[in-house]
Amino acid sequence: MKVLKTIDEMKAWSRKVRQDGKTLGLVPTMGYLHEGHLSLARQSMSTCDRTVVSIFVNPKQFGPNEDLDTYPRELEADRRQLERLGVDALFLPTADDMYPKGFQTYVHVEEITDQLCGKSRREFFRGVTTIVLKLFHIVQPHSAFFGEKDRQQLEVIRKMVDDLNLDVEIVGLPIIREPDGLAMSSRNQYLGKAERKTAQSLHEALQQAQQLVAQGESSVATLRSRMRTIIEREGRAQVDYISVCDPQHFEELEEIQGKAMIALAVHVGKARLIDNCLIERI
Ligand code: PAF
Repeated sequence: MKVLKTIDEMKAWSRKVRQDGKTLGLVPTMGYLHEGHLSLARQSMSTCDRTVVSIFVNPKQFGPNEDLDTYPRELEADRRQLERLGVDALFLPTADDMYPKGFQTYVHVEEITDQLCGKSRREFFRGVTTIVLKLFHIVQPHSAFFGEKDRQQLEVIRKMVDDLNLDVEIVGLPIIREPDGLAMSSRNQYLGKAERKTAQSLHEALQQAQQLVAQGESSVATLRSRMRTIIEREGRAQVDYISVCDPQHFEELEEIQGKAMIALAVHVGKARLIDNCLIERI
């Protein structure tokens, strides 16, 4: 596996891949890799001739009181996992290379970033779209792979690609869960033992809501209240939002008719956890 540490090295490598007539898949990550990331890399490897994984803890997507400094980093273990998987290249840019002194250009997707996570994480999506667009320009991938755990992020990236006529196929892949249902996330490692048990309640709440909808429930107020009861029952979780919204624009619904998304953001100890599922009431 080629380890590329500068933007110039990355550009030269991907230029060669394209010159050789090969397709290139990009898996952007912030490292501390888990099975969710690896599933994206596997999918890229099975559909593209070459796969590059980037690891960059992007400072621009963290707010002033967020966990940039403590975000888990385990570069050597990540490198070994990717090597074992057979990924072709690992891109490891530095913050100084990505955001040199005087950097002042950002990409901002408007309305859909005002909803859900955008309400409590004001800087987040602007940071994500800026870094993802930079990665697309540097790596020039044919396809890029993102997890559906961050479904709003995925839709925001799709919107950017669409609005700016970028030539990159965006592939979203299903949430990978721990055996107890907890959606895999690098931030799960912040959870202590009791918190970890509380964290399971997010998936439990989603399952309960899905079951109620399957039984004919259409009132969003009822679903929200049932989910809140499950999540708050041990008194260890602090709900940021419980949303039942339309899956593209993230506008809150009152009644479920047809397709909807249920999305949760919950603080458990130091971790802010998110999870979601799509539902359909026929
Ligand atoms: O989902 C993530 O890990 C990050 O938001 C991403 C897409 C790698 C951008 O930094």
